[in-house]
Amino acid sequence: MKRIAVLTSGGDAPGMNAAIRAVTRLAIAQAWEVFGITQGFAGLIAGEFTPLGQRDVGGIIQRGGTMLGSARCLEMKTEAGQHEALRQLRAQAIHALVVIGGNGSQQGSHALSQLGFPVVGIASTIDNDLYGSEITIGVDTALNIALEAIDRLKITASSHHRAFLVETMGRNCGYIALMAGIAGGAEAIAIPEIETDPEQIAEDIRLAYERKKPHAIVVVAEGAKYNAEGLIKYFKAHKERLGFDVRATILGHVQRGGAPGVFDRMLATRFGAGAIDCLARGESDVLVGLLHGTIATTPLGEVVTHEKPLNLSMMDLANALAR
Ligand code: F6P
Repeated sequence: MKRIAVLTSGGDAPGMNAAIRAVTRLAIAQAWEVFGITQGFAGLIAGEFTPLGQRDVGGIIQRGGTMLGSARCLEMKTEAGQHEALRQLRAQAIHALVVIGGNGSQQGSHALSQLGFPVVGIASTIDNDLYGSEITIGVDTALNIALEAIDRLKITASSHHRAFLVETMGRNCGYIALMAGIAGGAEAIAIPEIETDPEQIAEDIRLAYERKKPHAIVVVAEGAKYNAEGLIKYFKAHKERLGFDVRATILGHVQRGGAPGVFDRMLATRFGAGAIDCLARGESDVLVGLLHGTIATTPLGEVVTHEKPLNLSMMDLANALAR
């Protein structure tokens, strides 16, 4: 009988629980034993294993966050940490590990694989910046939360003829800002991938007023050269000349804490099933993701050495639609 372990690592993402549930129940269906590791790689290094049965993962599919807890673990970046993680897995006689997480987490997965331990990664991060999957667990729910905030801000912005900056998460990736900006009908979008001049954003706001729009919404990614803080500083310094005032809302972790929508529950369930299929056919050192709309695997060595490009033609679309 195989004994497998599962952990969630890095920033939590809505849908992680659905993935844990699928991994657990489908592994048990193979007559394997399943162990949950709490607090990501930090818990692995500390030897925090808990047996998971079918009922232990009941009632979690609709819950955001992760029932196993998560952490960012600097120790896993060191050789000593990686060897200790391996020692703990061997001490518990675990045959394979499933790691649900994003970029940093899959580096840990690949490091363990290189030490000879079978690991399968599941693509999960709200940032959607992970090579090897068109879309990752949590993105859709986080986007819907950002969108709801934009829609609400537009209402108050219209009442007051105000300009609003909405800052979204995404680390160095502009995906959330770009998609939420297009879907939310933003007048301007600032992302890290394209250097944006604050004067251009000011011009976009001015043009929106000139076109008799009752509001101006600027969606800005946290990783943009000028994020909300930078833009507010700039607009304050040039308020007299620009002739308008801007208010800012930083969405922050609110975007991560939602209950997963149907898309994330399904994606996570399919990824969980995909991970068990991989282990059943003896495939490891791979990431389970969505490629061309189907569940597919990509070697972790490739995942951790490639960046996922953002489709920048979407920015042209956003600009054309903002007119
Ligand atoms: O990677 C997910 C993410 O939410 C990023 O968008 C953000 O930059 C980061 O995590 C925040 O990290 P933490 O939760 O550790 O503050």
